[in-house]
Amino acid sequence: MENKFYITTPIYYVNASPHIGHSYTTIAADVLSRFKRRVLGKDNVRFLTGTDEHGQKIQKAADSAKLSAQDFVDKTSLQFRNLWKSLGVSYDDFIRTTEERHVKVVQKVLEILFKKGDIYEGKYEGLYCTPCETFWLESQAIGGLCPDCQRPVERIVESNYFFKLSIYQDWLLGFLKENPNFIKPASRYEETLRFLELNKLNDLCISRPKERLNWGIPLPFAPEHVTYVWFDALVNYISAVGEFDSQDNYQSRWWPAELHLMAKDILRQHTVYWPIMLHALNIELPKAVFAHGWWMINEDKMSKSRGNVVNPLEMIEKYGLDAYRYFLLRDVPFGLDGNFSEEGIVKRYNSDLANDLGNLVYRTLTMIEKYFDGSIPNVDFNKLKNDQKVSNILAKIQNLDSRVSSALDKQDFSLALEAIWELIAMANKHVEETKPWNLAKENKQEELKEFIRLLIDVIRAVSRQLEIFIPQTALSIQEQFGEEKVKKGNPLFPRIETKKK
Ligand code: MSP
Repeated sequence: MENKFYITTPIYYVNASPHIGHSYTTIAADVLSRFKRRVLGKDNVRFLTGTDEHGQKIQKAADSAKLSAQDFVDKTSLQFRNLWKSLGVSYDDFIRTTEERHVKVVQKVLEILFKKGDIYEGKYEGLYCTPCETFWLESQAIGGLCPDCQRPVERIVESNYFFKLSIYQDWLLGFLKENPNFIKPASRYEETLRFLELNKLNDLCISRPKERLNWGIPLPFAPEHVTYVWFDALVNYISAVGEFDSQDNYQSRWWPAELHLMAKDILRQHTVYWPIMLHALNIELPKAVFAHGWWMINEDKMSKSRGNVVNPLEMIEKYGLDAYRYFLLRDVPFGLDGNFSEEGIVKRYNSDLANDLGNLVYRTLTMIEKYFDGSIPNVDFNKLKNDQKVSNILAKIQNLDSRVSSALDKQDFSLALEAIWELIAMANKHVEETKPWNLAKENKQEELKEFIRLLIDVIRAVSRQLEIFIPQTALSIQEQFGEEKVKKGNPLFPRIETKKK
């Protein structure tokens, strides 16, 4: 097994504020990083996120904010970093595409591919809407009008630079056929394969004339053009770890990435453009790409233009950070689309967090205070002849770590959480069936001790796993259960009252 783990999120566009969709991918990457730090040690994990700051969208947003592009991106990029802080995201590096370390590598990539003959000058022809600064296909510009603003489009021809994607199509197909685990989940792998089998790739236009768009990285061999934003953006995954760095500080250590995470909207860029770019550069490919589903609002995609975006900060203010993280990871299997609703959060909160986890922790603390004066009793279960129920719980404690680990090795967050909640449910059921208040009444001290100690062992095992998913809660549990004494705090998740119908 490799003893390092390099994981990335997409670098997000800074033309709008971050919403729950962005936070989803980033929290997922955070959980996998925390998990791998535990397995491999913290120095062997690198978690990269960042912001995508060039291109027309950003330039336009800066114009309407009446700021220079640079001032605008400085301001908006900060929003992302601040949000990650509020969400407890443990990234190791944050890359911005306007940073020198990135610009340098993009230009080097362009130079190599140009020298090699994989980038050539050509004519780009299309229907262009000048006010919207957008090219449209014949099929989109019905009646010669821009589908966005309904003004007439113009046919323009301009000189641009192209990357020879087309010559690598057969290579890519062959590579994917040999590496079915390169794209996850399997449905996305099939989708990519079908796309490549049914379509002929066109070469990719990778430049924009400066007179039309100025906000980008100049092509080193044609400074009157800037780089197309996607060609610039993908390179972040290698520029952040110092590719082509003469000192070789990082590259040989971190590249190739073990996992690129994203949603399905940008699958093709990561499974077609990016592998071909790397192959043309003679750089190793990442080990895997995982494209998860979308969070929708009332079955509709969330977007700024639809005006239905949800601000993660509002959610954590209302429900707490850990309820938010838990809901995202538990409610929908990673890879599928999900519907986001506050009722959904409240439901998970009240049932899984308040009733199951919160209740187990609180009632156990209460019993330790009541029956043992707050001291944690010592019991060696190995020396006891346990009944079947107790043995079942002990076995579940034993293999919890391996169940969580094997689920996370498949990026299956909800399955990992299910395994943890199975143990919690078992422990709660055990309390109800054992009726400890009767043991106390009958003065069965030994039985009571064993009973309590088992609950404590469950809670310790659970809280150890929760460190990965909901670290604040895990810490709070660990603080309440000391080595020898307990220190009961407030309930972890006080129930949220909902209006009765
Ligand atoms: N800048 C490009 C990515 C370049 S990567 C080299 C970009 N940025 S983006 O701001 O639009 O972010 C897209 C990503 O944000 C998605 O792939 C996903 O990770 C996340 N999400 C945005 N909206 C989402 C949902 N509604 N649901 C789930 N994830 C979403 O594309």
